Amino acid sequence: MTSPKSEVNIGEKIKHIAFIMDGNGRWAKKRLLPRSQGHVEGLKTFTKIVEHCFNLGIANITVYAFSTENWNRSAEEVGALMGLLEKNIDDNADELIEKGIRLIFLGDKSPLSKTLADKMTDIEKRSAHNKAILNVAVNYGARDEITHAVNELISEGKTQVSAEDITTHLYTKNSPDPDLIVRTAGEKRLSNFLLWQAAYSEFYYSDKLWPDFKPEDVDKAVEDFMSRHRKFGGY
Ligand code: FPP
Repeated sequence: MTSPKSEVNIGEKIKHIAFIMDGNGRWAKKRLLPRSQGHVEGLKTFTKIVEHCFNLGIANITVYAFSTENWNRSAEEVGALMGLLEKNIDDNADELIEKGIRLIFLGDKSPLSKTLADKMTDIEKRSAHNKAILNVAVNYGARDEITHAVNELISEGKTQVSAEDITTHLYTKNSPDPDLIVRTAGEKRLSNFLLWQAAYSEFYYSDKLWPDFKPEDVDKAVEDFMSRHRKFGGY
């Protein structure tokens, strides 16, 4: 698809977009609802935004669903998030595969319940032939990811590693580096997300809370991205 103003092919310019879906808790608090309700609304937004990005022709999408630090939240909230992830797989996995989407979960699955981890592995296998990639980061932390990559390289017998070696051993190895990283809820931090891959990413911040974030807001981020000159250390 082309951008209306620039007539530039969006999928050519943005091969990978990533989202830090922030503000679910604040959305719920403003309405005197439990935080878990914010995540329920956040899941609805996630579904709409992912569909919109693929319709724009963006071939790789990454979302930060649960960080290695999110285990510090209450058992109730962690349980609600895990429940939502499992329900989302149960309800939507087959449709995503039919639509040509490959699902990849970034992160260490071992602390997750066996039922959830098995469902994740199953959909990863069943969708592996598809070209468009949806990376869902669950129990993900960039420091953990880089450490994991280095340990894999050591177990393969490497005594010296290159940047290329690390890149190809990250959880994101099937996607190019993100061109654009979007964070909602007015926060301007990376929060242990894609530290290695974000070396030359463009950042876009929205004050909207994630449940209020709309496909039109993605269009604004894309338009803003299109107006930027990326130098990659050059001119
Ligand atoms: C950050 O907002 C959001 C999360 C930690 C969870 C994101 C999860 C979803 C959008 C729903 C589930 C998604 C999938 C892919 C199944 P916050 O809770 O930190 O908000 P706050 O900063 O306002 O408290």
